[in-house]
Amino acid sequence: MKNCLGIQHMTTAEIDALVARGLEMKATRGSEPKPLSGQCWALIFSKSSTRTRVSFEVGVRELGGTPMYLSARDLQLGRGEPIADTARVLGRMVHGAIIRTYAQEEVDQFAHYADIPTINALTDEEHPCQVLADLMTMREFLGGWNDRKVAYLGDADNNMARSWIWAAARLGFQLVLAAPEACQPAPELLAAAGGNISVTDDPEAAASEADLLYTDVWVSMGQEDQATSTRETLLLPYQVNETLLAKAKPGALVQHCLPAYRDKEISASLLEARANEIFTQAENRLHVQKAILESLATAREARA
Ligand code: CP
Ligand code: NVA
Repeated sequence: MKNCLGIQHMTTAEIDALVARGLEMKATRGSEPKPLSGQCWALIFSKSSTRTRVSFEVGVRELGGTPMYLSARDLQLGRGEPIADTARVLGRMVHGAIIRTYAQEEVDQFAHYADIPTINALTDEEHPCQVLADLMTMREFLGGWNDRKVAYLGDADNNMARSWIWAAARLGFQLVLAAPEACQPAPELLAAAGGNISVTDDPEAAASEADLLYTDVWVSMGQEDQATSTRETLLLPYQVNETLLAKAKPGALVQHCLPAYRDKEISASLLEARANEIFTQAENRLHVQKAILESLATAREARA
């Protein structure tokens, strides 16, 4: 694997190996190898972040490298320097890049022009690092994803939903996305992905006998103009709460990529009741991203 640009571009074997290695990284934290020794990795962020920024800064350090946080606002990018030029400069200086931005095209272009390992740390299109951590959590708590049913409720037309769609397509588990019509994924995407994936506007049907209930914010970063009371009213029936959880399988997992808006996409009480699995999910970002960093650095070394 040369870059980590989206689950869409990953194979089943690559996903499986990263999740397995993430679990090993977690078990051996403190005695991990140092594949980034002597390297500097740039974190170029155009959007806010707590988990992604901290987990990557810590992860790069734990693998022997030095992270360099660059806010896109402070770079000449913010004054209009093209991504292709920024990439060609950084590609000659740093050893890898971790990018959080709006258009997927920007990360793809950066990877092309910089020719250094590039990681998508969230775009409007996908959030692959989060879904890899989610899959790792699923393996920890449920033993894996084979024959499992995942119900994704809420805004099913955002980056998280799309990364879940590609994960289900690659790994073969059942994914049911429940959302009002205005927040459903594009039919073309579903057709392209294939897999055992369906879309419904019935939250109870989605949650029924599910092994995992997943939700995310109703308004993603960069889409703040969509935050209307009409949207909230439409999405409220899809809130992940105790009533919906009662439809799921006993022992079902509750996951939220965070940050969460209490009593919007998830009830405050359920978030607190399931804090252990939700914050383990957040912690797993660190471990699985160390697996991604190691894999990219090792592949780069092999090519050199
Ligand atoms: N889940 C996630 O990516 O969180 P941050 O926005 O805090 O990085
Ligand atoms: N869909 C959310 C995910 C945040 C981690 C967003 O893009 O804001």
